[in-house]
Amino acid sequence: MGKIIIVGANGSIGKASAQILRSQNRDIELLSRNKNELNVNALELNCSSQVIDISNHSYVDKYIQQIDFDIEGIIFAVGSIMLKPFEKTTMGEFESTYKQNFLNPIYFTQQAITKMSNSSSIVYFSTVAAQSGFKLHTAISSSKSAIMGAMISLAAEYAPKIRFNCISPSLTKSKMSSFLTDSIPMSEGIAKLHPLGRIGEGKDSGSLAAYLMSAEASWITGQNFNVDGGRSNINTK
Ligand SMILES: NC(=O)c1ccc[n+]([C@@H]2O[C@H](COP(=O)([O-])OP(=O)(O)OC[C@H]3O[C@@H](n4cnc5c(N)ncnc54)[C@H](OP(=O)(O)O)[C@@H]3O)[C@@H](O)[C@H]2O)c1
Repeated sequence: MGKIIIVGANGSIGKASAQILRSQNRDIELLSRNKNELNVNALELNCSSQVIDISNHSYVDKYIQQIDFDIEGIIFAVGSIMLKPFEKTTMGEFESTYKQNFLNPIYFTQQAITKMSNSSSIVYFSTVAAQSGFKLHTAISSSKSAIMGAMISLAAEYAPKIRFNCISPSLTKSKMSSFLTDSIPMSEGIAKLHPLGRIGEGKDSGSLAAYLMSAEASWITGQNFNVDGGRSNINTK
């Protein structure tokens, strides 16, 4: 039997995906960096886990080599939110944003690809800001556009064996967004920019990621799905 790997399983969207998949009796393996948090999550969900920082490529190599199951799917719920005026964003900040949001998931995919089973599925996370222009988003929107571009090409290269799709959330309550969502006035202000009147929760995107892992999604590949409360293409004002 195969397993679905969830990278970033301690996070808001990764954990929600894991909870939904376990409620459907899917076999999963949780990957994240914080050991204590990961142990609690794996115990709660009765599944396997591995502490790993996917930015360390030799750890990724070792992890992939010792995998003794077919990989039925991978959900890459890792990334960052880098907001800065363009002229103040250093090349180092561009590089680290590209690594976290594009190169690290792509390196992991490249190493894991031969262990993917037939009819398997990979989900990457982009952002609403890769399609709608927001100030201060140059580094993050361009790195998330890169993962979307890779997704569509990989979907062509690996069809029909592996399906590749992207989810593009708008602001979602999570660790990485806490600098925006912990302030109630700021959170309420941003919620009002969404036609559906609230910011996202992990399960909004997690439920779609779980669906894209299922047999019901077996005719869906090369797509991007906006999970954004209508922010990207509806204007109610
Ligand atoms: N939240 C938003 O507003 C928002 C908006 C648009 C797009 N997204 C995208 O949605 C995806 C999921 O994010 P989220 O909202 O669930 O964020 P989150 O709650 O911060 O979760 C990300 C998780 O990834 C783990 N992680 C980070 N770097 C890692 C690494 N190098 N190796 C292994 N694990 C790592 C972290 O846990 P450990 O510290 O335990 O490793 C963290 O819990 C990301 O791609 C993000 O860019 C989020």
